[in-house]
Amino acid sequence: MLKKKILALGLATIMSLGILAGCGAKKEQANKEDKHLTIYCGLMQDHMIKAVNEFEKETGIKVDAVRMSSGEILGRINAEKENPKASVWFGGPADGFVQAKENGLLEKYESPNAKDIPAGYKDADGYWTGIYVGYLGFASNQALLKERGVDIPTSWKDLLKPEFKGQVVMANPGSSGTAYTALATIIQLMGEEKGLEYMKALNGQMKTYTKSGTAPGRMAGQGECMVGITFLHDAIKYKEEGMKDIVISAPSEGTGYEIGAVAMIKNGPDKEAAKKFIDWCLTKDAQEIGQKAGSYQFLTNPNAQPPKQAESIKDTKLIDYDFKWAGENRSKLVEKWNKAIK
Ligand code: F6P
Repeated sequence: MLKKKILALGLATIMSLGILAGCGAKKEQANKEDKHLTIYCGLMQDHMIKAVNEFEKETGIKVDAVRMSSGEILGRINAEKENPKASVWFGGPADGFVQAKENGLLEKYESPNAKDIPAGYKDADGYWTGIYVGYLGFASNQALLKERGVDIPTSWKDLLKPEFKGQVVMANPGSSGTAYTALATIIQLMGEEKGLEYMKALNGQMKTYTKSGTAPGRMAGQGECMVGITFLHDAIKYKEEGMKDIVISAPSEGTGYEIGAVAMIKNGPDKEAAKKFIDWCLTKDAQEIGQKAGSYQFLTNPNAQPPKQAESIKDTKLIDYDFKWAGENRSKLVEKWNKAIK
């Protein structure tokens, strides 16, 4: 009897030790996971690095960040959907996030800090949250314009003038969120048929299509083309960095804009770290990091200080850009654009 009791006690002790050891291992694994994070990022490289460094310093979580254009990120998370490598999509126009949500690539995460972000800047179902806002427009090279006696373009129509033939650069709407914003803006302004006709005519004016949306402004700044279609905050950045020939203008018909967003990738690893990163992105301090790295988007947290460098573009005439429509129609419109410019 006594022997049996001792045996039972021994077994119980071994089992509970085993359970404890199992818990310990799980906890250790969870802690390890919480200390690492992989993100795909649509921001400029210098902005991304500064943000990641600051987050690492504040939380001790080590971040691997890869910069890609929006269409590339969308393609990557779709290709990896059975075995996601990254947990967070950080930055890039919301249209791509809307499409990703539609395609079941995002995980709902309503950060407690999202309460500070106005409803118009976040997904109603909690799949993505806006962190910045950027306006679309033109970056022209003043020296080239002057040399050829050409006026600064101030309308979408102006870009079709003979003097701009072979002198306009835009990114490819398939790879770039900026260029997709341009395509969706034109369709919203002119309707699908007229809009695609316009894009076809604009194709006749193009020097080249770039992969990323930030490249056209740089090309205009370097005198490689007269006009780049780009987000205006990127043109301001290049100007601030020394490309003094850049002159900024916006189309009089009205222009589109982006809500740059952040979201959790569905079934990605390191969920707790991913949540911490998203919470952090929505804070005033995190949003103000951009302007320290020369990124001059407007910010979605009302307590965050907008960059003074963007003051000159704050009254740009915007259209009532429909993000839901733009995101849900993204693949279809890019395909139609491809056909139209052939
Ligand atoms: O980081 C600069 C920026 O213009 C962002 O504001 C924007 O979301 C992103 O680049 C778009 O990049 P792309 O057009 O290459 O997708």
